[in-house]
Amino acid sequence: MTSSDEIFDTLVLPYLNHAVRMYEASYASVTDIEAGMVFGCGYAQGPLTLIDELGAATVRDALAKRYAESGDRLHQPAALLDRLATEGGTFAELGAGADAPRPTFKRDIAKVGVVGTGTMASGIAQVFAQSGYDVVYVGRSQEKLDGVVGYITKNLDRAIAKGKSTEDDKAAVLARLTGATERAALADVDIVVEAIAEDLDVKLELFRDLDGICKPGAILATTTSSLPVTQLGAATDRPADVIGMHFFNPAPVMKLVEVVTTPSTAADVDETVKALCAKVRKVAVSCGDRSGFIVNCLLFPYLNDAVLLAETGVDLEVIDTAIKEAAGFPMGPFELLDVVGNDVSLAIQKELHAEFKEPGFAPAATLEAKVAAGELGRKTKKGFHTY
Ligand code: CAA
Repeated sequence: MTSSDEIFDTLVLPYLNHAVRMYEASYASVTDIEAGMVFGCGYAQGPLTLIDELGAATVRDALAKRYAESGDRLHQPAALLDRLATEGGTFAELGAGADAPRPTFKRDIAKVGVVGTGTMASGIAQVFAQSGYDVVYVGRSQEKLDGVVGYITKNLDRAIAKGKSTEDDKAAVLARLTGATERAALADVDIVVEAIAEDLDVKLELFRDLDGICKPGAILATTTSSLPVTQLGAATDRPADVIGMHFFNPAPVMKLVEVVTTPSTAADVDETVKALCAKVRKVAVSCGDRSGFIVNCLLFPYLNDAVLLAETGVDLEVIDTAIKEAAGFPMGPFELLDVVGNDVSLAIQKELHAEFKEPGFAPAATLEAKVAAGELGRKTKKGFHTY
């Protein structure tokens, strides 16, 4: 039987190391890495704070031990971790005083468009409508549009049952939503957030179309988790107005939005989107247009490692329980894979493998097999667990 401590070491240590390398490479600030994991995944603290708590030397030594066994570069203690372990110092000190000033609206945002009718699009429409914005949401059929209202109604009913909302609030939120089956309905929105299929050709076609439909000055945002935002911008004649707004699942609950700027994104678009995030009570972090951004880049290799660990014969429930107990994460890796969807997880892991070329990022065979078998998670009632 593998102990909780061994499971923690196997799955969590490489995640911590990876976070140090992300900071070392100047991809993200200490504050944004920490906020990413706290507000995107519901962790009690981020990876760099966890290293400060455990002690850099403890983490470095445990990683060095794993590296001696595995020879995998992902386990080789990051140079900065080694330096902190040897010379002293904390990530809290490294990150101190680097917070960005409060963003303000540089463009007016009164009306929001959402394209898509899936879980993410429905959740995003709810977030804006709950914060008082008029929302036009576009789907391919009346049935799909009804699904969005159904999703939001269910969430609001749950809040009412818990005494956290009222029938009047629910009616007000629903009244701010207007469904449309034609994209032309987006002509007068101030920002469009798209959450359609995670397929580059499908999204490129949408961006070309939005470029023709939306009024000048409208911001075109994508919630893609794995495709290059730069390419979506380049499909339009207004790449300066194109930006990533990566929400997390479930969108009404998870407070994080990764704001992804491309080399072409205008500074006033970036600032307006960050101000909008604050207005809808989300926490924005800044990301460059790189595979996995902050959170998925740290999260999915850990989830993939969990699948690899299970392949060695360790029981899924044992892993899920150990991670919740030893690491304090809100969900075990297999519970989370089933929420995200194995198809989505596989696509993200493949992108990370392609971008970083780490052999240790190669998607686990079982993840590939689950997708091939159509066992995608909660949405198909069977993934790693059965629902
Ligand atoms: N939609 C809307 N609201 C929901 C919800 C849903 N699907 N699921 C739960 N909630 C609400 C509940 O109503 C409850 O609200 P109140 O506090 O206002 O009453 C709140 O969330 C907490 O829910 P519960 O008490 O029922 O359950 P919980 O304590 O187990 O929390 C959770 C549920 C918030 C989802 C928690 O398990 C969690 O934080 N999980 C981690 C999720 C995560 O890591 N997401 C990121 C995935 S990666 C990603 O999204 C990026 C990508 O590109 C794929």
